[in-house]
Amino acid sequence: MSERVRRNPRTEAIWTQLYQALAELSSSTGRRELDIVDLGGGSGVFAVPLARIGHRVTVVDPSPNALATLARRAADAGVGVQITGLQGDAAGLVAVAGQASADVVVCHGVLEVVDDPPAAVEGLAACLRPGGVASVVVAQRYAAVLAKALAGHLADARRLLDDPDGRWGASDPLPRRFDEPGLAALLTGGGLEVLDVHGVRFLTDLIAGAVVDDPADAAALADLEAAAVAHPAFRAVAAALHVVARKPAA
Ligand SMILES: C[S@@+](CC[C@H](N)C(=O)[O-])C[C@H]1O[C@@H](n2cnc3c(N)ncnc32)[C@H](O)[C@@H]1O
Repeated sequence: MSERVRRNPRTEAIWTQLYQALAELSSSTGRRELDIVDLGGGSGVFAVPLARIGHRVTVVDPSPNALATLARRAADAGVGVQITGLQGDAAGLVAVAGQASADVVVCHGVLEVVDDPPAAVEGLAACLRPGGVASVVVAQRYAAVLAKALAGHLADARRLLDDPDGRWGASDPLPRRFDEPGLAALLTGGGLEVLDVHGVRFLTDLIAGAVVDDPADAAALADLEAAAVAHPAFRAVAAALHVVARKPAA
């Protein structure tokens, strides 16, 4: 009997792009097992599934608690030997993970919180081998404007709308947000070539989780989400942007 797998509409589109990038890299390098660095990989939400499909993953994260959870999850999943957790942060990534050590750098939900995003991108580019790819997910500014306004936080919504740099350089309690041109400029400024940009979590972050308790509803939402963000109007207000970028081959 085939097992019915519950789809996760929040992350499915990210995985689709990531799997495609991994397949293309495996094909171009001739190596099925790739070396992946997961910067700010936390407790292994992406690292563990990546190890389960055969890759070697180094998670670099400043949080000892997250790394302890990662070690437990990796052991439970039977992939403890394929995952290395290292304490470190974006600023020290090359020193911790090594120059040109990775085929892929995953950087999901991290550029919002680092001290210096351009330096972080330079660091992740330095970690990549020539031809390697970065998978970058960041919160999108226009979705945050919508979310803040819907929650009644109108001053925060206005500030996010008016400030093209989000909180950059300011002693501001709002997490940093990005728009598509700003993110593309950040990545190309760090020496990466943008291959693909997708909007993700448009509907999933707007509707209540209870609406998709049933696996069939979750599947319908994943399909609707994928169809909606293909439209530029909806992509611009997706909660997050997912970019796949490449370090040019030497
Ligand atoms: C929102 S979580 C994302 C976790 C994981 N990447 C994911 O997508 O599930 C942000 C992660 O960034 C880590 N982090 C915070 N500051 C960081 C820094 N300066 N450099 C690297 N990682 C950082 C946190 O410890 C946390 O694990």
